[in-house]
Amino acid sequence: MANLFLSPHKIITGKNALESAGALVKKLGSKALIVTDKVMVSTGNVTKLTKILSDNDIKYEVLDAINSEPTDEMVYQGVKMYGQTNCEFLIAIGGGSPIDAMKAIGAMTTNSGSLSSYMGKELENLPPNLVAIPTTAGTGSEATQFTIIADTKNNVKMLLKGTGLIPVLAVVDPALSVSAPAKVTAATGIDALTHAIEAYTSRKAQPLADTFAISACKRIFANLRKAYLDGGDFEARKEMSIASLEAGIAFNNSSVTIIHGMSRPIGALFHVPHGTSNAMLMGECLNFAAAGAAGRFADIAKAVGFYQEGMSDYEAAKELVKESIRLCKDLQIPSLEEFGIDRKEFYDNIDKMACDALESGSPGNTGRDVSKDDIVEIYKRLWE
Ligand SMILES: NC(=O)c1ccc[n+]([C@@H]2O[C@H](COP(=O)([O-])OP(=O)(O)OC[C@H]3O[C@@H](n4cnc5c(N)ncnc54)[C@H](O)[C@@H]3O)[C@@H](O)[C@H]2O)c1
Ligand SMILES: [Fe+2]
Repeated sequence: MANLFLSPHKIITGKNALESAGALVKKLGSKALIVTDKVMVSTGNVTKLTKILSDNDIKYEVLDAINSEPTDEMVYQGVKMYGQTNCEFLIAIGGGSPIDAMKAIGAMTTNSGSLSSYMGKELENLPPNLVAIPTTAGTGSEATQFTIIADTKNNVKMLLKGTGLIPVLAVVDPALSVSAPAKVTAATGIDALTHAIEAYTSRKAQPLADTFAISACKRIFANLRKAYLDGGDFEARKEMSIASLEAGIAFNNSSVTIIHGMSRPIGALFHVPHGTSNAMLMGECLNFAAAGAAGRFADIAKAVGFYQEGMSDYEAAKELVKESIRLCKDLQIPSLEEFGIDRKEFYDNIDKMACDALESGSPGNTGRDVSKDDIVEIYKRLWE
């Protein structure tokens, strides 16, 4: 089978990536809409960016109204601002939320109708040039054709897609993630690990993406604990920033599977940060998936050093699952109950969540068939 492989046109990684980006950004237009959040303003990351824009004679407007759950309403606000201030391209600086918001704003400047009308369809018209500058190591959104926006009417996280949503330039500068609090480091790091494991074990896995997925797993198991325990560990931050990008490239081409499918409904209804809900599901979902793709899970176990002489593929796969659960525990990721979710309210919503999970299409990429009953059963087991 032939495989199409997509990635950003240009990627800058490593120390001083942001400083090096000025000349490339200048080629994209003379005025940018910067999409960000208030934390990025207060940490000084936005000032670092605007200084580089000014040094390169690039004008800008700042939209800092994005919070950790970008909604359709925020997107429409951004579209209006983009048009009214005559911007020519967009730059997002922040975690996955500002990057996703920027993509949707860009898309809605060139595609008509409502955001929700594009669910399950491709966003056809190309958006203006998009530049992504991630500050979490995390979502990999700087390398993907996806954006996840909350539909405020229907309480659903919409997964929207279009190859034009892949930023033309990704600036992955580890210095920007040093200020991320430990909780954010933990949740976003597990999001990246989930992308890598799901991409590699997906039914849509492909050789080029495999390379990125395995490399991301190695970096994450070797560095996430370090970055969590000491946010100032620059080497660990650098490795995590590359891992997150690699994992993003991997799942952009191979897709995600059951964890992401089941995680979005928890996020939409109970406002759990995306990486945290992935972590809550990790043990149960990986155990389920490993039974159908033991060889692929074993490949990862071997690459990251969890395989021991004489183990069967299934034993190696279980070792990977065990170590992934241990990592989530070490990062002190809360359970649903510890997060403060009411058990009855959760149970009352299981049917809707299972339908939404299946409808997203992600569970269908898992290495074994997933039924609605399987999903319901896993949601229930999260409380045992
Ligand atoms: N498009 C994709 O391919 C894709 C993939 C996975 C997740 N997502 C989406 O990404 C979003 C989550 O992104 P996220 O996990 O990066 O979180 P986020 O962008 O919501 O940020 C979480 C919090 O951390 C803060 N923060 C971010 N960087 C910081 C820094 N360097 N210093 C201090 N504080 C910092 C933010 O201000 C925010 O309060 C979700 O909406 C999820 O659905 C998208
Ligand atoms: Fe994710």
